[in-house]
Amino acid sequence: MTIVSLKNISKSYGIDVILKDINLTLNENEKAGLVGINGAGKSTLFKILYGQIKPDSGEIYIMKDKKIGYLSQSLDLDEDETIFKEVMKVFKEIKDMEKRLHELEKLIADPKNIKDEDYHSKLLSEYGYLQEEYERRNGYSCESYAKGVLIGLGVLEEDFNKEIKYLSGGQKTRVALSKMLLSSPDILLLDEPTNHLDLSALSYLENFLKDY
Ligand SMILES: Nc1ncnc2c1ncn2[C@@H]1O[C@H](COP(=O)(O)OP(=O)(O)OP(=O)(O)O)[C@@H](O)[C@H]1O
Ligand SMILES: [Mg+2]
Repeated sequence: MTIVSLKNISKSYGIDVILKDINLTLNENEKAGLVGINGAGKSTLFKILYGQIKPDSGEIYIMKDKKIGYLSQSLDLDEDETIFKEVMKVFKEIKDMEKRLHELEKLIADPKNIKDEDYHSKLLSEYGYLQEEYERRNGYSCESYAKGVLIGLGVLEEDFNKEIKYLSGGQKTRVALSKMLLSSPDILLLDEPTNHLDLSALSYLENFLKDY
């Protein structure tokens, strides 16, 4: 079944025609590589697929409810954030749930609320629902999952609290890759993911992709 397709996509910058009548079809579980010389328009095509830029003409089809993970060549990381915090942004919704669960625990234990039966049972049912959702989305294991992926890609645990702006190109690539892999997308768009990676990070990535 077709999961992604492009039909007659064209894009120009000023008088420079970058892409002309590009057609492409990807089926479910298919892996494809895009090769071309520098400036051929590979990154431009990725940005169009991700919806970051609009083509001048043509049609883009992405199967409904399919989540795209995009590793951009420019990496797009928050330079002032630490490695671990930046990576954990992927789990923001889960972390928000965790906060609400802690809030609810306090509210539920508060004698004032216990007296108000209606309100108290509302709190309890919200707690039950959230707790289930939190478990279903692996709330308890997301931090260790994040650590495992970072370490697998060669980010040292002692650097987890280092700010992104102090990292080398290779380290930034590993952080951006970790973020993308952790977000469990249905469709992976990797723009030169092996830039700056050494052999061990490369083989971790290869294995990860083999099983994807
Ligand atoms: N925002 C822009 N404004 C003007 N020109 C642009 C813009 N973005 C890209 N280009 C031009 O479009 C062409 C294709 O760029 P693109 O980044 O897609 O190439 P690429 O195939 O990814 O190259 P590389 O292998 O170097 O990553 C280049 O000539 C580039 O200068
Ligand atoms: Mg490029």
